[in-house]
This record gives sequence, structure tokens and C-alpha cells, in this order.
Amino acid sequence: MNNYHRFDCVIVGAGGAGMMAALEASQRVGTAVVSKLYPTRSHTGAAQGGIAAALANLEDDSWENHAYDTIKGGDFLVDQTAAEILARDAVECIYQLEHWGLPFDRTPAGKISQRRFGGHTKPNPDYDPSAPPGSPNARPRVPVMRSCHSADRTGHMILQTLYQQCIKQGVTFFDEFHMTDLILVDGECRGIVALEIATGQLHVFHAKSVLLATGGFGRMFKVSSNAYALTGDGPAIAYQHGLPLEDMEFFQFHPTGIYRLGILLSEACRGDGGVMINDQGERFMERYAPNLKDLASRDVCSRSIYQEVRAGRGIGGKDYVYLDIRAETINRFGTSPTGKPVDHRWVESRLPDIIDFSRTYLGVDPIREPVPIQPTAHYAMGGLPTDIDGRVLRDETGAIVPGLYAAGESACVSVHGANRLGTNSLVDLVVFGRRSGRDMARYARDHDFKPLPPKPEAASHAKIRGFLERPRNYPWVKLRDRLQHVMMDDCGVYRTGEGLERARREVASLKEQYATLGVQDKGSVFNTGLLEVLEFGNLLDLAEATVASALARTESRGAHSREDFPDRDDSRFFAHSFAFRDGPDSVRLAYRDVDVIYIEKDGQRQPKYPLEIRKY
Ligand code: FUM
Repeated sequence: MNNYHRFDCVIVGAGGAGMMAALEASQRVGTAVVSKLYPTRSHTGAAQGGIAAALANLEDDSWENHAYDTIKGGDFLVDQTAAEILARDAVECIYQLEHWGLPFDRTPAGKISQRRFGGHTKPNPDYDPSAPPGSPNARPRVPVMRSCHSADRTGHMILQTLYQQCIKQGVTFFDEFHMTDLILVDGECRGIVALEIATGQLHVFHAKSVLLATGGFGRMFKVSSNAYALTGDGPAIAYQHGLPLEDMEFFQFHPTGIYRLGILLSEACRGDGGVMINDQGERFMERYAPNLKDLASRDVCSRSIYQEVRAGRGIGGKDYVYLDIRAETINRFGTSPTGKPVDHRWVESRLPDIIDFSRTYLGVDPIREPVPIQPTAHYAMGGLPTDIDGRVLRDETGAIVPGLYAAGESACVSVHGANRLGTNSLVDLVVFGRRSGRDMARYARDHDFKPLPPKPEAASHAKIRGFLERPRNYPWVKLRDRLQHVMMDDCGVYRTGEGLERARREVASLKEQYATLGVQDKGSVFNTGLLEVLEFGNLLDLAEATVASALARTESRGAHSREDFPDRDDSRFFAHSFAFRDGPDSVRLAYRDVDVIYIEKDGQRQPKYPLEIRKY
């Protein structure tokens, strides 16, 4: 059969996590990457401001600082062993990328340049607990330059570098193949089924181990920084097979998306000295995060924008504020990372892409005027639960699904907890992509191919045939619009039980209508209508799990902010949620303890990272 392929390892997704895993696995065993996009169009390429690693190239830093910030940034829902691995391995991974040719920006001394990002800090050497509040010495921690960057195109450079290495190493790519099913037999993974977009044919990929690295699912929200392809195919298909999704209630809204369009304007804008301004010209973050101000964590900044808008201080009383990166503003507030005045040429050299985006999409020149911004759905902290080697967990007990791996945004390892720090996603991709690639190759070497069930493509075939044979009775785009609106309004930055209940009902009704859909294009060649309907089905399932998890978490933590339960409740919710599909429309939830590291201190066993109420 021409459409049957056999590889030791099959990796779904050609972003940073998928290609990093492919580079590891293909050194050891036969490896293929199956991607619905041409690899260098993967969404890693949209990451802008940098990749965190405590290189200490410009100032003192340590991986311990990075681990602490990650755990605190995640509002303590982070698995601590994983966070320490992330922070420690980040350093080695950066040098690996550099040796592969990644063109990082440089310091005057020729080292990899680093910039500030929200929530990345170090202890303040001048800290004085008795200093008057608001004075520089009263801040226990201060921002640190930890983010390695190539201007504001860091993800793009990583993607190009990894793809070049994959080609050099002979990794086999199946470009523009959309995964439609996982082949699971007796609880083990034996491959995948994928639709070849160019021909409409189904292909079976028989494998010893499979890695899902299909990226995030921000397209369930109306305003999103995510590309159209970000529909969470890997986690959705696993969920359809009864596997759990972890911490789905935590979805990050990046504070600075272009107003209404959602296109990302990197946090590097603020790392490099830009500030957010309200209608009264105030740097309003001083009110909400007196220490770190505009460099507080993203959940805090996004909520602050909403608070300003609600208080009538949005620009012209509307639902947006300004991001101001003009050199004179940076100099006025004294926010330049160098401590010296900057000019517009410096700003342009640091942030060329975001300046271009703003000019192109808004007709606003950030060098001369402030840019209208609003929070934009950016990053899923939740996803397929994995252990630190990328092995997918079958349930909350920690049992694994043999042969199945996940990494990157589609996974939840969990290093981001309830809120990811900026620049930690790229580190997550390379650190855990690499570990997953190694382990899936080890697994493949230790095991034989197991037989496939008869006709593994049959379920995909029936589903596709349904969409092609049913008449187009309703424009499905309208259904997607309804999903995106209800998720934005009722499951966005702020949530209430009432709103979430409304979202739950709307998603259930959309699912009913989805089952009756037919597509207009009945052809097989590049049927993008069919592809988008398949993707929409995945978004619906992920929205169902997100809303159910958010309804059940009656506390506020990180990016999950319940107005009806404003406080964090560690006594009930210091735990990861696991959402399982339980019948066509219902979700079953279970919880798993957060991984906590204990140390001996003063003769006593104590948590290494004691729970604190975050203050920025
Ligand atoms: O703001 C940014 O450049 C985005 C980075 C990230 O999400 O890590």
C-alpha cells in the first residue's frame, strides 16, 4: 500500500519541539516528521522577544533564579523538578543552538545578548526591608536580563536553524499532512493516521513511538496572537480517545496584542523600556505592580489593562490602552535597560518586526506615536500531561501510555503552572523537545513494531466522508465565530461561574450542530474547507475541556481569574486538573498533586519553594 509508512519514531508537528525531538531521535533510529504546514511556517517562528537562559552575560544570574521565577510566575502550580530541569538545561540548549548557527544578537564584548522580560528577576543587592515603600531599595527583587534574542525574530531564527539541522541530518519530512487519528491498541500507541492535504488521501504511519508536538489552540478565542493553524490537533485527538488534558483552565492572555487584531507586539517592547499608558497618560502599572511595573507577569498586566478599561481609563473610554515605545517615553520614565538615554535608531534596531507589524496592520508608527493594544489569547499552559521525558500520562496516577509522547505547547509537563513567563515557551520547546526525542528513540530501540489493527484509517475515513456527503446546510464559519466570541467573553481574562456556565451550554450546542455539518467543496485536492472543519472539531473539544476545568476551579490562580472566587485557595486547589471526556458531552475531572521539592533546613524537611502570595 503506497499510503503505508513505517518509521521507528513519528513526530507530529515541525515547530521547535518537534524538530528538536527529531534531531535527537534521528541520530539513533529512523525518524519522520509529519506536519500540516511547511516546517518553517510553524508557529515557533512567530515567537519574538527571546529565549530565557541564565547565561549571566550582562549581569549576575543563576539557573536557581530562573527556576524560582518560573515557579512563582506560575503561581506555584508548577512542577518543581521540571522547572529546575528547564532552568538548568536552558543554558546548555542555548549553546547548542548557537553552535548550530543561530544568529543571536551580541553584546559589545561578543557574547550572546540578553534582555529583560516580565517576571524574570534576581535578588536586589541593595534590598533594605526598612527602606520607604516605593524607593528602589525597598524592592526585594529586580528585573534581570535573561532573554537571549535575535532582535524580535528569535523564534524565526530558532525554526530556521533547527530545520537546517534536520535537513543536514536526513530527517524525513511529510509536509502538509494533517493528523486525523492516533492508533491506540490495548492502551499503547502504534502510529497515526494523516490526511495528505494535496490529494485528500489518508496515510497510515506505523511507529514504535509517536510524539505529539502540534502546538497550541489559541484559535478558540476571538482575539488571538495564534496563527490560523493553531487548533490543538494532537491534544484534541488524544482527548477524543479518552486520554486526559491537564490544567486546561489556564490560558494566557498576552497583554500587548494589536487592538482588535491580536497580533503580538513582543513583551520585549517593555523589556527594552516601553510602557503601557492609559487615557490620562499614566503609566498605570505603577498602581498594580509597584516593584516590577510593566515587567510584572503577563496575567497581572492583562488584568491591569481590564481594570483600567473598566474604570473608564481606556483610550477615549474604549476597551484598549497604549503601548508606548517612543525613545522620548523610555527616556522620560528612565526605563532603558542600559540606564542610558536611547534614541529611535536604537529602538528600531531592537524591535524591527513589531514596528513593521504596527505600521503595516494599524498604520501606526511606534517610533512616533503610541500603539493601541489589548490582551490577546496567546498561550495554553495546559495540554497533554507528560512526565519529564515527554511520556504522556494516562491518568492522574502518573501511569503512562506506552509509545506516546508530547512536547511543547501541546504538552503540559508542567513548567508553566497557572501562568507562563515570557520567553519560557521557547526554552520549554528545546529542553523538553530534546528530552522527549531521546526517550522516544530509546523506547523505539527497546521495542519491536507491534501489529496494527485492520484498517486503522477507517474511523478517519468515515468522519471525512460524513462531511463530504452531507449537504452544506449551514456556514460552519458562523459556528466558529460563536465559539470564539463566547470563549473570549466568558472564558477570557476574567471569568465568573455564570459566564462559564453560559460558555458550557454554548459549546455543547455548537457540538450538536457540528455533527450535522457538510462542507461546500466536495473535492479531494487541497480541500481547505474540509481541513478547517476538522480543525474546528478539535477546537470544540478543547473548549469543552477548558470550560469544564475552569468551572470546577473555584479559586483564582495565575491566568485563571474568577471574579466570584477572587482568592487563591491552596487548601483545595494546589493541584493539577485532569479533564477526561466522559461520553459525548460530559467531562470528568480528577486532580493530581503538584510536584514539590523538599530540602533539609534547620534540621527540618521543608519545601524548597514555599508557597507565597505573589507580589510584583
Ligand atoms: O512577547 C513575546 O515576545 C513573546 C514571547 C513568549 O511568549 O514567550
